[in-house]
Amino acid sequence: MPGSTTTAALERAVHRYRRAPLAARWSVHGRAFLSDLARIEEYVPRHGFVVDLGCGDGLFANLLAEASPRRRILGVDIDDRKIAVARATIAGRDALRFEVSDIVRVPPPRCDAVTIVDVLYLFAPEDQERILRGIADALAEGAPLIVKAQEARIDPRYALTYAQEVLSASLGLTRGARSRFHFAPRETAMAMFGRAGFRAEAVEMRSRPYTDVLYLARRSPAA
Ligand SMILES: C[S@@+](CC[C@H](N)C(=O)[O-])C[C@H]1O[C@@H](n2cnc3c(N)ncnc32)[C@H](O)[C@@H]1O
Repeated sequence: MPGSTTTAALERAVHRYRRAPLAARWSVHGRAFLSDLARIEEYVPRHGFVVDLGCGDGLFANLLAEASPRRRILGVDIDDRKIAVARATIAGRDALRFEVSDIVRVPPPRCDAVTIVDVLYLFAPEDQERILRGIADALAEGAPLIVKAQEARIDPRYALTYAQEVLSASLGLTRGARSRFHFAPRETAMAMFGRAGFRAEAVEMRSRPYTDVLYLARRSPAA
């Protein structure tokens, strides 16, 4: 369970959206309630330059900023409407930036840590691996990559995970979402992290009715 400090930081992050368009406010409240963001935040280094890939409306980036003033954060997303919502929350804070970019084509800048929350499943396996390789180039040996994902497995939770994404895509909530998703079984994901230059461990997250997994990866020594 996240501590009360992180939960308070999440409340402050959500409050940053009080003047956002209604649909964005709903989405942010839903993500805050359903996505275990406070738990993920606790694995992110407290200081340094953190890049959040596929940041959406920027809620997790805002949480990172609220939870530790010693972080500098860049959020990146392909959806310019979401980046506009995210930018409107900055309110003069220099430590937080948002940019429109395609994370498959453009690797992140050199940084101290990378986070990816509920994004990788949108990409075909070769693009997922390409993203991870780009991240490996941006991180020093031992630096962390924190990926929240859902794993494919024979489980009613997986049926629910998939159905929710189909619904979300059909409502047009996720740009880049196609009719097919690419949730990987855990062994496949672990092998991909290894090939891309990471040592990873998986932490299961069972607080939601989905097959949520947190992959805690660290940049391996260069071969
Ligand atoms: C399910 S949302 C997750 C958003 C955010 N990480 C969160 O947890 O609230 C997936 C995000 O990936 C973004 N996305 C999809 N394809 C992308 C790409 N090629 N480059 C950057 N972002 C992309 C979408 O625009 C969307 O905001």
